[in-house]
Amino acid sequence: MSIIDTPTLIKTIEFREIGDERGWLVALEGNINIPFTMQRVYYIYGTQSHIRRGLHAHHAVHQIAVCLAGECKFLLDDGKNKNTILLNSRGLGLVIDPMIWHEMYEFSSDCILMVLASDYYDEADYIRNYAEFLRLANGK
Ligand code: TYD
Repeated sequence: MSIIDTPTLIKTIEFREIGDERGWLVALEGNINIPFTMQRVYYIYGTQSHIRRGLHAHHAVHQIAVCLAGECKFLLDDGKNKNTILLNSRGLGLVIDPMIWHEMYEFSSDCILMVLASDYYDEADYIRNYAEFLRLANGK
């Protein structure tokens, strides 16, 4: 597993893209090239380009986002710094750690965004209020 840790908040994982004359295949395996055991997979599609989604952070859940078709942008925010990335590669996973506020926007009409999560859906794990997120992230 090669996690590319840039000086920014953007952490990505490059997946091995297995190609031959028939096309491409990427395999995602818990605790091998995904740094946790996946308990849940969800995917987002049919989002209009003017819509922003996400707008929350998690207390404990770890996630990896992979754009399976089209493209969208991500904003990541740790309460001090913000960084953005365009996700448009089938071979790249974006790491969304706990306590990272994230927003997705500028979805292409064909965007299919898949997210792997380390735990089941639990609304109690969400921080959906930005002021509350800033307070927790900055230890106040
Ligand atoms: P929401 O958190 O608003 O999605 P996004 O982060 O993309 O803006 O979730 C939309 C709805 O789907 C909301 O009612 C909660 C529900 N949901 C589940 O039932 N299971 C899940 O795994 C997720 C991520 C959301």
